[in-house]
Amino acid sequence: MTMMSHRTHFFNQSIQDVLSREDNPATQLVVLGAGFDTRCYNLPEGADIKCFEVDMPPTLNAKKRALQLAEVAHDHVTFVETDFNQEIWLEALLDSGFNPNLTTYVLWEGVTMYLVEEAVRDTLNLIASLPTGSVVGADFFSQDLIQGNPPFEKISKAMLRGIKYQYSENLQFGIPTGETLSEGLGEYLSESELKLARFEHVGSTEDKKPPWYFFAHIEKH
Ligand SMILES: C[S@@+](CC[C@H](N)C(=O)[O-])C[C@H]1O[C@@H](n2cnc3c(N)ncnc32)[C@H](O)[C@@H]1O
Repeated sequence: MTMMSHRTHFFNQSIQDVLSREDNPATQLVVLGAGFDTRCYNLPEGADIKCFEVDMPPTLNAKKRALQLAEVAHDHVTFVETDFNQEIWLEALLDSGFNPNLTTYVLWEGVTMYLVEEAVRDTLNLIASLPTGSVVGADFFSQDLIQGNPPFEKISKAMLRGIKYQYSENLQFGIPTGETLSEGLGEYLSESELKLARFEHVGSTEDKKPPWYFFAHIEKH
């Protein structure tokens, strides 16, 4: 019941830490798969942050219209259209004025589970090409949940069906969890220059089913 507030708290903290730290703060914020996320409209006071929201055209158009109607200032935000499964989003960002030499926070919240493995891998590799100190905040389902492996046979079927029905989306990507919960993600990242700096999961390790939803703060070293 509390997993969404847990997720919001985790990423709020992660973003605030990186935007407001004294040493090498991020000066660009990229929201990948932004949807109706409002982080760009709630920045730390006085912060001079260049913001980019990346999503598919219908979602971005609906959001721009909503911002106009609600009279929310959005001149500091650049909207970038892409399809993560088809295009290299960094190219679209570069065409829109993104500076790849600035320390950047990339928020990738509620998106990885809808992508193919190759798109997740490509995105992590692109983030690894950003300057040291850049961070990606991302959440992941476990591979066991996505594949319906024991003990997730029932919940997996129900989630895949529910998400298809409610959002017309397919759940596709999950992290192999390994012996400990963070080990799988650590291993997944070991092929890049990215390091898992902070990690939380929903639920308790003592629950009947092992945790299947993870929040990660991943840093470029
Ligand atoms: C569950 S929503 C999350 C929105 C927002 N990040 C949040 O946490 O509230 C997933 C978002 O990812 C976007 N998305 C999903 N697949 C995508 C793709 N292949 N290319 C671009 N955006 C995609 C959707 O349009 C949607 O806005």
